[in-house]
Amino acid sequence: MDPTDIDWDALLSEAIDAMRHAYCPYSNFPVGAAGLTADGWLVSGCNVENAGYGVTLCAECGMVSDLIRSGGGALVAVVAVNGNEEPVAPCGRCRQLIYEHGGPSCMVLMPDGVAPMTEVLPGAFGPHDLADVAAGPTQASSNKKEGHDGSL
Ligand code: THU
Repeated sequence: MDPTDIDWDALLSEAIDAMRHAYCPYSNFPVGAAGLTADGWLVSGCNVENAGYGVTLCAECGMVSDLIRSGGGALVAVVAVNGNEEPVAPCGRCRQLIYEHGGPSCMVLMPDGVAPMTEVLPGAFGPHDLADVAAGPTQASSNKKEGHDGSL
């Protein structure tokens, strides 16, 4: 989808609304995320922290849960905002989550502008990698004899 066809203002306002519901007593860093699906649905989520810091749920995590709960579909555009209502770069794990449900063409509003997932998560590992291995070794990989020092 062309990035100019996306109503980024509507996505931003949905993300800001979600951000206001964040549960972040430990970081005091609220985040809201919103996504648009290929069939026009808006989904959203906020970060939900935990006294066990490592099990904090990011806003994008909640957004993906909302996507699946409401029937699924492909994400075509995603925005996450911080407490200043400005776009925030999704963390590494969230880039993987967005890739799983949006694929390489999903557009993300980054702090410096709109970028496709091919730039947000270059060389992504994804469902295709699982399918490729299940299909057996490729000719190129079965011929490869790599040494411990990386030499071929
Ligand atoms: N956070 C998100 O919700 N999404 C991101 O992509 C970056 C980080 C949250 C996690 C934590 O609650 C707070 O921001 C500070 O890291």
